[in-house]
Amino acid sequence: MKMLEIKGGNPLNGTIRISGSKNSVVALIPAAILSTEEVTICNVPDITDTSALCEILEFLNVDVKRATESLVINSVNMENKEIPSMYTKKLRASYYFMGALLGKYKKVTMALPGGCSIGARPINLHLKGFEALGATVTNKDNIYTVEAKDLKGANIYLDFASVGATINIMLAAVLAKGTTIIDNAAKEPEIVNVATLLNNMGAKIRGAGTSSIEIVGVEKLGKCFHEVIPDRIEAGTYVILGAAVGNNLKISNIIPEHIEALTSKLEEMGVFLDIGTDYIIVSSSKNYKPVNVKTQTYPGFATDLQQPLTPLLTMCRGRSKIEETIYENRFMHIPYLNQMGADIRVKTQTSTIIGPTKLTGTDVVATDLRAGASLVIAGLMASGTTRITNVEHILRGYENIVEKLLEVGAKLELKEV
Ligand code: EPZ
Repeated sequence: MKMLEIKGGNPLNGTIRISGSKNSVVALIPAAILSTEEVTICNVPDITDTSALCEILEFLNVDVKRATESLVINSVNMENKEIPSMYTKKLRASYYFMGALLGKYKKVTMALPGGCSIGARPINLHLKGFEALGATVTNKDNIYTVEAKDLKGANIYLDFASVGATINIMLAAVLAKGTTIIDNAAKEPEIVNVATLLNNMGAKIRGAGTSSIEIVGVEKLGKCFHEVIPDRIEAGTYVILGAAVGNNLKISNIIPEHIEALTSKLEEMGVFLDIGTDYIIVSSSKNYKPVNVKTQTYPGFATDLQQPLTPLLTMCRGRSKIEETIYENRFMHIPYLNQMGADIRVKTQTSTIIGPTKLTGTDVVATDLRAGASLVIAGLMASGTTRITNVEHILRGYENIVEKLLEVGAKLELKEV
């Protein structure tokens, strides 16, 4: 098991370059098999989620060539086989193979995807979409079989603007007969990135990024070259870090509009941000005002950033609140932050952070990806040494996090324990 040992208290200075988006690439990789020709994806982050999905491609006999930060995927010899849980349990996003294989072969059999313990994370909306397209769904001991004689375009209303369901239905609908409309679709930038890939392959998708997406089915999809957008959650995590311990910390290769809900909240707190076209420069200061945050679907405040934001709010003079509306169990970082000296209370879906408090290093555990990121920020803020175990969670979604932090003056070391 991997452990991160952090000696905190150092101001961080220099540039952190943001990598390609985890939540985009985990959909782009399965989407690529819908083509009958070669698909090249660049700006691919080297994270464990990428490797886990490439393992599934290789299991399906898809040809995958990896170069620096890019993948060349060719599914000309692929086989549609049952995907066992040893592959799918590694990450929730394995479920995008459901939509892609259903769309390509009209049949998919795979074990239920895994994911963080932040909530039940059912896939009922995905399955409702597949059934609307004419598929039948059976589930035998968590092995799902979804198949259709024919996939026909349909009007689908999502009870919740689910990111995963929006993308998965898009993948199943691009080769269907006729037109599909997804209403109350999620609007996250990753959805636009996937729709752009599919359109570059020859699909006919309009409205991605709005709450209504139209997909006109086509006969086949071909060759394309595509780029992963910068990771807005990685970017937001490092901007928060800069507000906590930065000294002119520059976060580069970002799309500032994608984290507008965060930057406006930080400015409300009293953080000074120098926002450029594709970068943000940020420094820590001592007088932050308390704020209230409510997580929403995009373009609202991202649920993935409420955990990294929490340690920063311990620096505010007064009571801040975070209301989590997307997941039912996304406060598992808080007991560890309190062990470090924070004063945070949780009541149902709202945390109250009373500040300012001093953080002191101690031994903590990463319970999920963004909780882990929150503990890294707290460790870099704290006096003394913080040891974070279960760091594998963090390595799923933050490319080269140790190297990037060492580069800007952090004192940390990744160890095997
Ligand atoms: C994506 O998860 C992201 N993951 C999550 O990021 C992110 O938090 C989430 O979108 C919201 O922005 C990936 O893209 C791989 P949802 P997803 O479907 O698609 C409920 C991270 O830290 N729901 O929008 O699973 C669900 O239980 C991860 O990078 C249903 O009830 O999110 C949850 O409460 C964590 N039925 C809510 O909707 C369904 O069929 C949000 O889910 C689907 C979802």
